[in-house]
Amino acid sequence: MNVLIIGSGAREHAFCWKIKQSNLCKQVFVAPGNAGTAKLAINLDISILNFQEIRRVVLENKIGIVIVGPEIPLIEGFTDFIKNDQELNGVLVVGPSKTGAQLEGSKEFSKLFMERHKIPTAPYKSFNQKMLKEGQEYLNSIKAPYVLKADGPAAGKGVLIINDLQEAQKELQNMLVNNKFGESGHKVVIEGFLDGIELSCFVLTDGKSYLTLPNAKDYKRIGEGDTGLNTGGMGAISPVPFASKEFIKKVEEKIIKPTINGLEIDKIEYRGFIFIGIIKVGDEPFVIEYNVRMGDPETQVVLPRIKNDFLEMMISTANQSLGNTNLKLDLKTASTVVMVSGGYPEEYEKGLEINGIPKDSQDSIVFHAGTKNLNGKTVTNGGRVLSVTSIGNDFKEALKKSYETIEKIDYQKKYYRKDLGFDL
Ligand code: AMP
Ligand code: GLY
Repeated sequence: MNVLIIGSGAREHAFCWKIKQSNLCKQVFVAPGNAGTAKLAINLDISILNFQEIRRVVLENKIGIVIVGPEIPLIEGFTDFIKNDQELNGVLVVGPSKTGAQLEGSKEFSKLFMERHKIPTAPYKSFNQKMLKEGQEYLNSIKAPYVLKADGPAAGKGVLIINDLQEAQKELQNMLVNNKFGESGHKVVIEGFLDGIELSCFVLTDGKSYLTLPNAKDYKRIGEGDTGLNTGGMGAISPVPFASKEFIKKVEEKIIKPTINGLEIDKIEYRGFIFIGIIKVGDEPFVIEYNVRMGDPETQVVLPRIKNDFLEMMISTANQSLGNTNLKLDLKTASTVVMVSGGYPEEYEKGLEINGIPKDSQDSIVFHAGTKNLNGKTVTNGGRVLSVTSIGNDFKEALKKSYETIEKIDYQKKYYRKDLGFDL
């Protein structure tokens, strides 16, 4: 089968790498891809939101299945677009319907979903542009820290956690009336602060049955000791040492099952990944957020631990036969360390030549993120540049291998966190 992967990050390189190992795979295309996917597949220079162009290349290249990496095409209705096209009849898609993608596209939608299906999450109230005063009074009635969330997508930046009441009230105004986060902030969810430790749980569902994929912990802050600005993710470890069997059982019973049942009860068409951001408060799991895709960098530690034919899993997801799949996992630990461009997540340079990426490393897999080929060289093309994954008997051993591989790779202003796992 010919496969099209939508996206250009290390997550999509990891999808590509895993799918290429399948006997069912004929040819892989990635739109738009990066220098890493270019080695394994055919990159197509297409915007992830140009649905008409994607439609054209699906027909032209006889694509049998499309796997969507990032959330935005899903929130914009990509899956419905393909499904409703007569000529694309039979093309499989991994990724939820537009309504399903609202679980990530609207914080209020996801809160109402959790409320309806009794899924544990922080208490909340939502406020629209006409409710600034009520919102500010509500803040006055609750305790700090104040958690303010832009309702719509904001590239991971739409959540503010503030200790000072006046500042929280001002930021509410900034979001509701002064266009901070644009339209996405014209509705704001204010929710109770949960004090605990976070992990990412991943579920693959065909809408009827589901598989719980390996969990992971990611490191979002740019600085060591979890300091500084938020990034797309600086590294990840799987499995998460503090997620005991008992805890995962609770997640399964209190969160995953009610989520899958809830989708069915609400008649929400969903065939794809569910990424559940969970916070462990004491011994209890609470949902912080839903994402309707895999995580990045989590994918780079989750996929290497899956032993099944991944393309077969994707096909079963899209044609609703996932119930027949027996998940087989590598019980070792995977770690990934993200190498970024100096200055990221603020201003950074692009086009810096990258040298020393090992060709066939026994120890690590180097997934590309912001890279491209230019005149026979590989150059940086984004803030997150590479994601170096290794496997070990524990996270320390896995990380050691990743750090050794990183030592061999060179570009100007390379930066990465050297303290991953410090909190475990
Ligand atoms: P989100 O975009 O919803 O994942 O939120 C971004 C980050 O804000 C999360 O990864 C948490 O670290 C933090 N966060 C979100 N909601 C809460 C909450 N209710 N209590 C404490 N921290 C939160
Ligand atoms: N690593 C977090 C995310 O993919 O949103």
